[in-house]
Parts: sequence; structure tokens; C-alpha cells
Amino acid sequence: MAQNLVDVLIQEHQEVMNGLNSIMERGAPPERGTRNPEFDRVHSMFLQHAHGEEEAFYPRIRDEMPDMVRDALNEHEKVRTQMQELASQWHEESEWKSRLQEVKGNIQHHVEDEEQKIFPRTRDMFSTQELEQMAQQFEGAKQRTPGISAAAPGRAEAAR
Ligand SMILES: [Fe+2]
Ligand SMILES: [Fe+2]
Repeated sequence: MAQNLVDVLIQEHQEVMNGLNSIMERGAPPERGTRNPEFDRVHSMFLQHAHGEEEAFYPRIRDEMPDMVRDALNEHEKVRTQMQELASQWHEESEWKSRLQEVKGNIQHHVEDEEQKIFPRTRDMFSTQELEQMAQQFEGAKQRTPGISAAAPGRAEAAR
């Protein structure tokens, strides 16, 4: 059975939050000069999810809820910047932890807005069949995420 877009998005939110939690539970930042494969994996997942929403989802609801879409785009951009900084700069442990906590808080807030305000209206706006088509368009859009290899979506660690 085809999946509906809202269910797919909620499932991905869970995966991103779980990934961030497991990075934080491990506690220590990567050694200076080394990659953190777990962070890279969550970073890729976030970038693909956000791009997929921006290409295949938000344009469909923008007329209905312009303010929420504008806020959501700003939140994506803020998290993109913060995650890029975490990926590209080395930080000592307390700084790394507080930056990670900040990213997690921002994602949490964004996910709550989507799940509590945007998704219920989305389910009302579209038929099941439309939501299934949108899920397919979302998967296609994720493959076009800038900076992510289409050959290994969300699996950046496999290449390391
Ligand atoms: Fe989302
Ligand atoms: Fe989003």
C-alpha cells in the first residue's frame, strides 16, 4: 500500500530526532580533524527532508497557510546554517554540546509546528490519493537535494 505524505514526514521526524538523541547520548564530540558519521547521517537526512518539503510539499499549502510556510522556511534555513557550522567547524566538548542542544531545540520546535498546526490542515485539504501522490513527489524531490549524492540518499556514512 502506498504511503501518505504526512505519515512519511512524521516517520522522518522521528528518525532525525532519534539520530540526534543517540549522538547526544554518546556525549563526546568527534576528535579534531575527524568526521562524525552519525552526525553526517542525520545532517543528510535533515537536508533531504527539508528540501523535499520545500520542493514537493510547501508549494501545495502556501496559499492556504502562507504565514506558517514562511515561518517553516525560516526555521529550515536556521537549522541548515547551524548544522553546516557543526559539520564544518571543530568545537570543544561544552560548546559542541550546547550547539547540538540548540539545533535539537530548533528542530523540535519546527517539528511540533508541522505536526500540530500544518499537518492536521493538510490532511483536511487533500484526499488520500493526493497525499500518496505527494509522497512520491517528495521522494523524487529528496533525490534533488543540493549537495547530497543521489546514489546514496541519507547514507553518507557508507562512503566513509
Ligand atoms: Fe518536516
Ligand atoms: Fe520542515
